[in-house]
Amino acid sequence: MIITLDGPSGSGKGTIAKKLSEKMQAWHLDSGLLYRALAFFMNNHPAQAIDIFIAECDVQWISETGETVVYFDKTCLNPYLRTEQVAQLASKIASDCTVREILLHKFRALALVHPNMIADGRDMGSVVFPQADLKCYIDAPVDVRAWRRYQDLLKNDAAIQYDDVFFQIEQRDNRDRNRPCGALCCPDKALVINTTKYSVESAVDYIMSQIQKNITC
Ligand code: DC
Repeated sequence: MIITLDGPSGSGKGTIAKKLSEKMQAWHLDSGLLYRALAFFMNNHPAQAIDIFIAECDVQWISETGETVVYFDKTCLNPYLRTEQVAQLASKIASDCTVREILLHKFRALALVHPNMIADGRDMGSVVFPQADLKCYIDAPVDVRAWRRYQDLLKNDAAIQYDDVFFQIEQRDNRDRNRPCGALCCPDKALVINTTKYSVESAVDYIMSQIQKNITC
C-alpha cells in the first residue's frame, strides 16, 4: 500500500508522514531528504557523477524513530542535511529534469523493496506514484508556514529574523511550484488537508480513517 503526502515547505507533511509511518509500521520515504543528500554531495564533490551517488547511497528507515536515513560510504549524512543552505541547494537541483528522472527511478525501486510505504515530498502523488492507494495534499498559508519555521530556527539561532525566513520560504515555494518538471501541485483526487485547521494528531487520525474507508472495503 502506498500513501503519498505532498505539500509546500513547512506545511507539516514531514511530521504527519513520520507519525503515520510509526502508527502503520510502514516505511517512510522522505523524498526531500534524498534531494538534500544529493545537493549536499554535489556541492562537496562537484566533479563526481550523480549516478555514482544514487547507485551507492543507502536509504534506510528506522522503525523505532520513524526517521528516513541516508548513508554514503557508510557515513550517515542526516546531520548535514537540515540546514537552510542545503534546502536552497536542494530546491535548485530539483529544477533539473535529469536529476528528477534519476531520483524517480530510485524512489520507485525503494517502493518495490518496501511496498508498504508513506512517501512525502512535492511530486509523490502527481508524478512518482500516480497509482498510490491514497494521495494527500498538505497545505497551510505561507505566513503560517514561515512562522512555524521561524519558531523552529529560533531554538538554535536567537538572531534569526522572521522576514528572512518568510523570504526564503516564498523563494523556495516559487521555485518548487514553477519548475518545468515535477512542480509542486495538488495531485488529482488528493485529499486536501489544511494544517491550520488540523493538529498533527488529528491529521494523522483523519488520514487513517480515510485509508480504512477507501482501501479496506
Ligand atoms: O521537503 P524538503 O524541504 O526536505 O525538500 C527540500 C527540497 O527538495 C524542496 O525545496 C524541493 C525538493 N524536493 C522536490 O523537488 N521533490 C520532492 N519530491 C521532494 C523535495
